[in-house]
Amino acid sequence: MSNSLHGKHVVIVGGGSGMGKATAELAASLGAKVTIASRNEDKLKAVASAIDGDVSVAAVDTTDEARVKEWAANLGQIDHLVISASSAAHGAYADLPTDDLRSMIEAKFVGPFVTAREVLPYLNQGGSISLFSGVLSRRPSAGAVGLGSVNAAVEALAKGLAQELAGQARVNCISPGMVATEAYAGMPEDAREGMYAQVGNSLPVGRVGEAQEIAQAVVLTMTNAFMTGAILDVDGGHLIKA
Ligand SMILES: NC(=O)c1ccc[n+]([C@@H]2O[C@H](COP(=O)([O-])OP(=O)(O)OC[C@H]3O[C@@H](n4cnc5c(N)ncnc54)[C@H](OP(=O)(O)O)[C@@H]3O)[C@@H](O)[C@H]2O)c1
Repeated sequence: MSNSLHGKHVVIVGGGSGMGKATAELAASLGAKVTIASRNEDKLKAVASAIDGDVSVAAVDTTDEARVKEWAANLGQIDHLVISASSAAHGAYADLPTDDLRSMIEAKFVGPFVTAREVLPYLNQGGSISLFSGVLSRRPSAGAVGLGSVNAAVEALAKGLAQELAGQARVNCISPGMVATEAYAGMPEDAREGMYAQVGNSLPVGRVGEAQEIAQAVVLTMTNAFMTGAILDVDGGHLIKA
């Protein structure tokens, strides 16, 4: 497979905001035909109309298996699949409601598992799948053991799939540190900025990440034909901090 995205069909599930949106913008600027999918079609249309390029949208909830199957069957051939869609549940181990844990596992693990499986028949030979985990998989934190565990499962999925799909598709996993995205839009601004400052100050780079910096890493996993089974840490040094 060529190491250029020019003319390639890149599908980004979770492309309506954050790192998925930044990846859509970068891929389109590199000449890819891009499809962005997530649950909120209006949000997707607004993102697509702001990008100067060939961008299509699709309303898909990865936890709705019937919809995922229907969508995948009408997608056409693709070259690269990126899945950044997820939701996270935080809470102390003793207090995290089991329903919240199950919902997170559905959105962050089962959804991507099913989506990749259903899109696979339409993935061109030599194409790639890029999944998303996060630093909590290998740098656990009190109050987030559920999320850390799901991140670890996503990393195991990426490595296992890289083996099972060898010769058919490359599979990698991006593990971001804290990145300022719409994922934190529900927080009061003061609390959010305080959290960014606190986490940023604890990191070797001295700040939290920007979505565009993660998009650069996603483009690497798509275009570097020697990369498979990799967990790519783009975290400002979070894993090696004191
Ligand atoms: N931001 C961070 O600090 C951070 C740190 C470590 C890891 N991560 C991981 O990095 C990835 C991207 O995070 P982000 O910050 O870019 O997230 P984000 O800005 O919240 O974007 C997530 C996207 O996923 C979509 N989505 C959520 N649930 C979905 C579902 N069931 N089906 C389809 N689409 C769904 C959302 O749109 P709709 O609501 O319209 O569906 C949204 O477009 C996630 O896996 C996240 O866990 C993030």
